[in-house]
Amino acid sequence: MNQRELFLKHVAQTSPSPLALEIVKAEAALLFDAGGKEYIDLIGGISVANVGHRHPKVIAAIQQQLDAYLHVMVYGEFVETPQVQYAQLLTGHLPYSLNSVYFTNSGTEAVEGAMKLAKRVSNRTQIIAFINSYHGSTQGALSVMGDEYWRNAFRPLLPDVLHLVYNSDESLKAITEQTACVIAETVQAEAGVIAPSKEWMTKLRKKCTETGTLLILDEIQTGFGRTGKLWGFEHFDIVPDILLLGKALGGGMPLGAFIADKKLMDTLTGDPVLGHITTFGGHPVCCVAGMAAMKALLEEGMIDLVKEKEELFSSLLIHSKIKGVRSFGLWFAIEFDSFETNKKIIDKCISQGVLTDWFLFVSHCLRISPPLVISDEQIKKACNVILQACKE
Ligand SMILES: Cc1ncc(COP(=O)(O)O)c(C=O)c1O
Repeated sequence: MNQRELFLKHVAQTSPSPLALEIVKAEAALLFDAGGKEYIDLIGGISVANVGHRHPKVIAAIQQQLDAYLHVMVYGEFVETPQVQYAQLLTGHLPYSLNSVYFTNSGTEAVEGAMKLAKRVSNRTQIIAFINSYHGSTQGALSVMGDEYWRNAFRPLLPDVLHLVYNSDESLKAITEQTACVIAETVQAEAGVIAPSKEWMTKLRKKCTETGTLLILDEIQTGFGRTGKLWGFEHFDIVPDILLLGKALGGGMPLGAFIADKKLMDTLTGDPVLGHITTFGGHPVCCVAGMAAMKALLEEGMIDLVKEKEELFSSLLIHSKIKGVRSFGLWFAIEFDSFETNKKIIDKCISQGVLTDWFLFVSHCLRISPPLVISDEQIKKACNVILQACKE
């Protein structure tokens, strides 16, 4: 059997038709398959590879940590320098109230930890989330997912969860003294790059403060420069009570985090102790990789070029089949009239060496979320391929 047949036989499938590309190498914004074919990566591992695949500083940091130690102890018991230094770097680039980092294995585990923390801090149980939001696939995160199609088969889920319309003033009335937390994506990702208004974000922050409700912002896709600022919430001049990070946080290695004020975080230390337990969360190799990636992101000026690259994509993606273009930084949803049109264009792009896909809740929209290091030449080449695919 070849690799593809073995993949289909032994690696559990969750889709009837996986892409099944056999990637043998990745470098910056390029992927290479087993047949030697090159792809411009417009997905970036879904906003993971922000500093590019295999950034040399990330590789060097991993290699150095391999010579020191791998896993040594369940999270939070030993002083592990990679965790300490990365937490210091992260909090040094966040507002003062976000000063304590709990590292997890994944984004969805960060969501679980944050919702548990909100219950402990507030002594309340109601959780408010938004329609068309995606926060992960474990059962707590699934409970706040904003689409019944994806939730229904797994009921019963968490009780006391309300789903409201995003970016609607009417929705804010539902936030009361009963609400433990509101969880929102700073910009809705899988809804197809939907940004709220600054006014609404300000009102949301205000209503949470007035009612003693914790505001959790999920920046698992919007973090680390994707939107043209280090953090998405900087566009809205608000600060969440709990910040969720994942994806690019690990520089290509698995890592998530929920970040809050130490005063809040300390509620996880008593009654019961060990309020959240994770064996591998904050793995030292993942922490050094993430820290090297974040330093590269900041030191190499990648975020400064996001606006320019966004404008280049926007100026090129003009075609009668394109019904709309939404963007927020180096992050686009290109709208077609149907899933069928989109799928044909995506398939054509892949056959021509441009990797893209569609969004979970809007399958008629094509995703563009490349590594931030994508060059102007690669952008022009990729747009050419998309436009060519539109013509056929
Ligand atoms: C906005 C958002 N939140 C949470 C998650 C869950 O992260 P993970 O897949 O690492 O569990 C994702 C993953 O796609 C996401 O896009």
